[in-house]
Amino acid sequence: MPTYTLTVNQKTYTVKADAQMPLLWVIRDLIGLTGTKYGCGIAQCGACTIHLDGAPIRSCSFPVSAITHQQITTIEGLSPTHTHPVQKAWIDEQVPQCGYCQSGQIMAAAALLKTNPHPTDEAIDAAMQGNICRCGTYPRIRKAIKKAAGLTP
Ligand code: FES
Ligand code: FES
Repeated sequence: MPTYTLTVNQKTYTVKADAQMPLLWVIRDLIGLTGTKYGCGIAQCGACTIHLDGAPIRSCSFPVSAITHQQITTIEGLSPTHTHPVQKAWIDEQVPQCGYCQSGQIMAAAALLKTNPHPTDEAIDAAMQGNICRCGTYPRIRKAIKKAAGLTP
């Protein structure tokens, strides 16, 4: 089985995995970072969203062999102190209900604010529309993104 060296949350890991193993499996089962969730497995729900060199990707549908030297960031590494503005706004606005989708939501929101620090409602909807929440926390997600962007108090 091939060996892969990955940089996850600024730490280096060497794993043995089938070339087609989804990155989500590697992160959760081989590295042990379980904050990233499995939802659909077919790139449709966003629960498995992580950052690859700062851009959001669906880790359930990204084979480990496609990683070269990119930096992988998971919810555990978004902020070493868990005080990323998006995380703080999520707590302030009490966004989660069951919580299952929320690490993916936070990673998608953080990636949005990196490229668009003051998004309009339309930009928020466009960036977040692929992140499904079965609990329907969408209004709180939008409110928290605006708070994290400094658009609301
Ligand atoms: S689990 Fe990856 S998009 Fe649903
Ligand atoms: S908080 Fe339950 S699925 Fe989103």
